Amino acid sequence: MTSGSPATVLITGAAGFLGSHLCEQFLAREWRVVAVDNLLTGVAANLDHLRCSRLKFMQHDVTEPFVVDDRVDLVLHFASPASPRDYLRHPIETLEVDSVGTANTLALANAHHARYVLASTSEVYGDPQVHPQPESYWGHVNTTGPRSVYDEAKRFAEALTMAHHRSNGLDARIVRIFNTYGPRMRADDGRVIPQFITYALSGAPLPVHGDGRQTRSFCFVDDLVDGIYRFATYDGLAGEVVNLGNPEEVSLLELIDTVAALVGRTLDLVHLPLPEDDPARRRPDIRKAGLVLGWTPHVPLREGLRRTIEWFATVEAGEPPVLA
Ligand SMILES: NC(=O)c1ccc[n+]([C@@H]2O[C@H](COP(=O)([O-])OP(=O)(O)OC[C@H]3O[C@@H](n4cnc5c(N)ncnc54)[C@H](O)[C@@H]3O)[C@@H](O)[C@H]2O)c1
Repeated sequence: MTSGSPATVLITGAAGFLGSHLCEQFLAREWRVVAVDNLLTGVAANLDHLRCSRLKFMQHDVTEPFVVDDRVDLVLHFASPASPRDYLRHPIETLEVDSVGTANTLALANAHHARYVLASTSEVYGDPQVHPQPESYWGHVNTTGPRSVYDEAKRFAEALTMAHHRSNGLDARIVRIFNTYGPRMRADDGRVIPQFITYALSGAPLPVHGDGRQTRSFCFVDDLVDGIYRFATYDGLAGEVVNLGNPEEVSLLELIDTVAALVGRTLDLVHLPLPEDDPARRRPDIRKAGLVLGWTPHVPLREGLRRTIEWFATVEAGEPPVLA
């Protein structure tokens, strides 16, 4: 990476939820951004508010090889369906973007002598038998179950990334992201927070898989993007893997109570069967991120939910609601 002159970051999956927030973060810090997306699960409108001379959008499928004429200093490979609903709807595309797409973006980083950051996931830990999950945990994944199209694809992407680091000396890093939420998630992506919020705002009975006592840890997007920015720009982290997420663990029932309190409604629940291989518990061990990045999440769940509800309500109704 160069210092002094403005640097260029290439972000794949840029029109998605996390990609669009990353574009915003790097533009705010004076970077040039090459934003690549094929709009499989993202929407170009996520980048509308960022249009400027330092942002270049390329509509491209990263499973097809591509060249970039500008000098690229940093590659962030975030293209991949991410929600269970999306990757179960696009199983082959998911396996391809995390394998062939990872190979193509690694080739591009090698060609530009750029730093590389792979967006991996807590799903590489599967249904974990160690709790909370540190980076050293190898995981507990059903290799042939329906979720394997995502879990195993990311595990392969991690192996490929480390092979390029070891064989080619590429400065490659892997971030394992735990459930993150915030503005610009799609209402229909099937993840619990957008689903609970849109049902709560409409007043319709809320679908809950299982008894709702399974736990998750939710990180607000601003915290996550701060952690990714640090991980991508700090020197001396080649070959490192880091968990980023919020260790505050809540059950889905507690999450529903908080959403209900914020929208000021009592919510009726409809219990549905648990999806196959649904993890019972998930919580990141983020001690490494604290040590190497000085990072810890700051936004409490209630505050992050308040901002997210406000965004969904504004998008749907055109005006922000008055929240409790
Ligand atoms: N959001 C989370 O909580 C979370 C958790 C763990 C990991 N991640 C990882 O972070 C990344 C982004 O997730 P997200 O939540 O923003 O998902 P998203 O679906 O909102 O964004 C993914 C983007 O990738 C694009 N894309 C998919 N296939 C592509 C291809 N072949 N070529 C070009 N673009 C392609 C989609 O159109 C979309 O814009 C993913 O790699 C995901 O696995 C996210």
